[in-house]
Amino acid sequence: MEQQWQTEQQTVLVLDFGGQYKELIARRVREQHVHSFILPGDTPVEQIRAFSPIGIIFTGGPSSVYGEGSPDVDAEIFRLGIPVLGICYGMQLMCHKLGGVVTQCDVSEYGVTEAELLVEDSPLFAGLEKEQTVLMSHTDYVSRPPEGFRVTSRTDHCPASSFENAEQKLYGVQFHPEVIHSVHGKEILRNFLFGVCGAKGDYDMQGYIRKQTELVREQVGDGRVILGLSGGVDSSVCAALLARALPGQVTCIFVDHGMMRKDEGDEIEQAFKDRDLHFVRVDASERFLSKLEGVTEPERKRKIIGAEFVAVFRDEAEKLGGEAGGQFLAQGTIYPDVIESGGGKAATIKSHHNVGGLPEEIGFKGIVEPLRGLFKDEVRAVGRELELPDYLVDRQPFPGPGLAVRVIGEITREKLEILRNADAILREEIGRLAPEHRPSQYFAALTNMRAVGVMGDGRTYDYAVALRAVDTDDFMTVKFTPLPIELLAKISRRITNEVAGVNRVLYDISDKPPATVEYE
Ligand code: XMP
Repeated sequence: MEQQWQTEQQTVLVLDFGGQYKELIARRVREQHVHSFILPGDTPVEQIRAFSPIGIIFTGGPSSVYGEGSPDVDAEIFRLGIPVLGICYGMQLMCHKLGGVVTQCDVSEYGVTEAELLVEDSPLFAGLEKEQTVLMSHTDYVSRPPEGFRVTSRTDHCPASSFENAEQKLYGVQFHPEVIHSVHGKEILRNFLFGVCGAKGDYDMQGYIRKQTELVREQVGDGRVILGLSGGVDSSVCAALLARALPGQVTCIFVDHGMMRKDEGDEIEQAFKDRDLHFVRVDASERFLSKLEGVTEPERKRKIIGAEFVAVFRDEAEKLGGEAGGQFLAQGTIYPDVIESGGGKAATIKSHHNVGGLPEEIGFKGIVEPLRGLFKDEVRAVGRELELPDYLVDRQPFPGPGLAVRVIGEITREKLEILRNADAILREEIGRLAPEHRPSQYFAALTNMRAVGVMGDGRTYDYAVALRAVDTDDFMTVKFTPLPIELLAKISRRITNEVAGVNRVLYDISDKPPATVEYE
């Protein structure tokens, strides 16, 4: 078991059978203060046992248990005496492996429906009403439960929307309790965790910080750690945690590539200067901007910035005295990065991460990733525990290449200055909205278009600024935010009045797809 996953807390394992909801299930469990961890569905039983889980949840998945090569599970798992909750495909798999029958529905059932409880004493539904609104999404269903199981609910189209063998602590639900559309899904999961598995609810961020402190001390000893600090949430929280765990042993290198937002460099420095770490701010803007001179092709811009970042970081690491290779490299990798890159098998670096390639090139002594077990909302919670300022903890995503991907065409100091000022106005105005009314991400971009305008008695020929505001859960797809027109008008007036070089403001109303969030 990887060191990072060791925890003093009780753990529930989420076994993944290809469902789109594995992360959601794991997060729902953690919301109840129970630690959860995702593993592939075919994880050998000995490995599962090594985690000493208090419960196991099988996810759904698109397959059919009779399909060739469908995800399978070792039936031994049902004999461990550990409670299991199978969701959707997970329920069907449990049924199939224990000798019941799964059948294809005449029509797939998809959407919110009413389930009727058939029993009054099911531990899974304790305290719940007879009628339950649930989300169904399936093509197969359990037509005959395994021996020893009883059906506990049904819907109009599904004769067994849940079943159980309470004695063996095995439960199955055909619906999805993890989504909000299943109105009492949270209570059902709570019943499983606390009623069936005997969870104590002992998982919290203070405990996480304590455990990681212990682990990184063990790993690093009296060695030295270098962290590339971008000022993003993950690297900032990582820095704050390491400053506390390894006082005086950590150096944070903040490479200012000259394409940060207004005042951002100073804010980052301010947040870290009084912590117990060595903070190095490198003004590398000249280096970056000269390399970018005359470059207009978006991918080339990104490549140049990525390569230059590695070069600056290496130079600085070497300046710190002695061999950079003798030090540890810390990274703000978080759990979704690990899940996306194949489930934690390798010490993978975020593909879009600024310091990608560093460990191989410099040959660091080891990689320190204390946030590897956390979801984003948990990273923010750890940041709050460590008293990082709100503007860092609640920071919206900001791309590694910075404003370079928001200045269309060639990057010049003049264009960057215009964009910084326009963007600061947009952020100031939207920042006045209550947090729940703010879009997921909002920024200004400088189009490469100049157009004719009039100011006073004179003709102008100035840039058009584009405003972008989007709403999303995952940034894979986004919807543009319909900001109130009065707010847009105010931002437009302020930008054209206060920012020299701009005479037009455009609002980007494209979704992703077909657009992307960033312009380049
Ligand atoms: P796109 O433009 O791909 O952006 O729709 C999706 C999200 O990713 C952010 N983004 C980046 N983040 N390095 C990062 O750390 C990058 O190179 C990068 N490019 C895009 C973007 O701001 C949005 O939140």
